[in-house]
Amino acid sequence: MGGSDSPAGQDRGRGRIGIVGGGSIGVGWAIVFARAGHVTTVFEPEETRRRILVEEVEVRLGELDAFGLLDEAPAEIVARLAVTGDLSEALDGAEHVQECAPESLPLKLELFERMDAGADDTTTLASSSSSMTISGIAAGLNGRSRCLLAHPGNPPYLIRVVELAPAPFTARETVDAARELFSAAGMLPVTVHHEIDCLVFNRLQGALLREALLLVRDGVVSPADLDLVVSEGLARRWSVIGPLAVAELNIRGGIVAHAGFMGPVYGRIGMERGQENPWESDVVQRVAEDLESRFPPSSRDDQVLWRDRELMRLESERRRRSG
Ligand SMILES: NC(=O)c1ccc[n+]([C@@H]2O[C@H](COP(=O)([O-])OP(=O)(O)OC[C@H]3O[C@@H](n4cnc5c(N)ncnc54)[C@H](O)[C@@H]3O)[C@@H](O)[C@H]2O)c1
Repeated sequence: MGGSDSPAGQDRGRGRIGIVGGGSIGVGWAIVFARAGHVTTVFEPEETRRRILVEEVEVRLGELDAFGLLDEAPAEIVARLAVTGDLSEALDGAEHVQECAPESLPLKLELFERMDAGADDTTTLASSSSSMTISGIAAGLNGRSRCLLAHPGNPPYLIRVVELAPAPFTARETVDAARELFSAAGMLPVTVHHEIDCLVFNRLQGALLREALLLVRDGVVSPADLDLVVSEGLARRWSVIGPLAVAELNIRGGIVAHAGFMGPVYGRIGMERGQENPWESDVVQRVAEDLESRFPPSSRDDQVLWRDRELMRLESERRRRSG
């Protein structure tokens, strides 16, 4: 890897990937794709950044290797990567281009125009943007039907969820191809059904942070204790099952029972915060039906036992590591 040399590594039969912008997320995506066997070329305009990028990838791969999270030697993965200061080299022959440039609309508009003009017609063009929509970035392009948002958590090689958010103009084949590509690379794609600011990941994060800041503002809890409530409380369970599933498994009667006694309280708290979002019974019912198909009530005790065992496994691993 290095300079604009072609990568020497084996591609394991996977298509080429272009990464546009080699900052935190660009490096993260480069690791995801190269680890999955793709020859991956990172376009990074800043020379100083280009020089340290290789080392950054090597350090992270070394860490992943030390935790047994790679199935080949870091050097084999690094050999599939190239870094370039020339955008056309990242676009050349790429099956998928993942844009990871700074969060500036004028910059992304200009980049997508260049990407659309320079990439093959069949190349998927994805943006990692956290706060924009692909409609806002790509509506004016001839090739807009091959554009979508593919938003990662940070770092994407450890947070496996990626949100796929198409615009109304995005072709179904583009979404299907992205889903297949990310799944094969070990990611867990979720589809955002219509465009919305901040998608799902950051909306949920934003809702929690909004309340956290208000609780600190009102002197209810210290910042350190608030973090503890999440990291040692809520997030422990959420690392095994999501918040809807927690509500389902936590009490007999599931989320419908939870809604019966906590729904009005949460509704009142929302009103105190100037948000009139009562728990609507038809929505609760829809969620309950989905939960019942994932967690059939007939085997509820086994599911609770499974959840607790997963938490025990995590706790035991934490204790083992902290000596
Ligand atoms: N950091 C996060 O937690 C996170 C999470 C999800 C999504 N994102 C999104 O990913 C994108 C990148 O964020 P980041 O945190 O990696 O930013 P960053 O600042 O770490 O990296 C951006 C990189 O792009 C390079 N760059 C500057 N101008 C460029 C240009 N014209 N073309 C290509 N590259 C250019 C910069 O030199 C830098 O290396 C943003 O859209 C952001 O919203 C970030």
